[in-house]
Amino acid sequence: MEAFVRGLPKAELHVHIEGTLEPEMMFQMAQRNGVALSFESVEEVRAAYEFTDLQSFLDIYYEGARVLTTEQDFFDLTHAYLRKAAEDNVRRAEIFFDPQTHTERGIPFETAVTGIHRALEAGRAELGISSGLIMCFLRHLSVESAHRTLEQALPFRHLLLAVGLDSSEVGNPPEAFEAVFARARREGLLVVAHAGEEGPPAYIWKALDVLHARRIDHGVRAEEDPNLLLRLAEERIPLTMCPFSNIKLRVFPSLADHNLKRLLDRGLVVTINSDDPAYFGGYVGDNYLAVSEALGLSRENLGTLAGNSFEASFLRVEERRRFLAELDRYLAG
Ligand code: ADE
Ligand code: ZN
Repeated sequence: MEAFVRGLPKAELHVHIEGTLEPEMMFQMAQRNGVALSFESVEEVRAAYEFTDLQSFLDIYYEGARVLTTEQDFFDLTHAYLRKAAEDNVRRAEIFFDPQTHTERGIPFETAVTGIHRALEAGRAELGISSGLIMCFLRHLSVESAHRTLEQALPFRHLLLAVGLDSSEVGNPPEAFEAVFARARREGLLVVAHAGEEGPPAYIWKALDVLHARRIDHGVRAEEDPNLLLRLAEERIPLTMCPFSNIKLRVFPSLADHNLKRLLDRGLVVTINSDDPAYFGGYVGDNYLAVSEALGLSRENLGTLAGNSFEASFLRVEERRRFLAELDRYLAG
């Protein structure tokens, strides 16, 4: 079973590159950049990864991201993620980064985007992983800051696939960001948004109707609204679910309680992703495996989830067809 799940050709559509920073790399970068950490050892860092909700995680996650300083740091971080992804036969990765986490500390937008982009190019050449980069706006910061960030991004527009919305959800509804997302769309960027992770179904409606999100990141709270479920199924709007994240941030008490299979069975385009694998205890293949065990997924379910990941991706038609054919051959054994 493990070999089957790891070898399943898949796309990962919900991974924050800053959330792939393993404690070992955090210490290396802190040392080489002269950044003081509030932890003494890798073990102490790992022991601190006990979260009670999204905010308790974000506080530590932004603290950890302070070590990322040079273009080489962003390259190394992204390259390490891609090597891990290749072990799970990730064929396509659409990766988030949070520019404001860096620009607010005086790190130029260019440093982050160039380092990440170079690693994505290397990943394509060395590992055959197709990829795209999604810039997220931090919703706990102001709309003006989001506009400034979009302006900083425009010279690098050709390196970006889409814009997203992340960080502290409750109290920061999507509609506040209507104008900046409209501007991003006019620039030809696609739209995704975190919604319904901790926030109510209304945030999912707004992400769709006001921001024009093409897929919803998390979206687990959609289950509370039958009309929303009908719409998501009818319009085949994907949900990029992150099971380990939901357990670590206490959205569900355990994997056995997760609604992933219920929503899959209702015909929603559900996908499995890792979110912040260095913080939540596993990469995308680990998420597939654990969910499969906890919810008793069949091989057919796993094939559907992998197929959904390509359907939900922003791949061009030709490349999507190629990966789906690869998946078909894999499933046919
Ligand atoms: N940033 C990184 N991980 C996140 C998550 N799970 N929700 C919102 N913002 C995030
Ligand atoms: Zn996320």
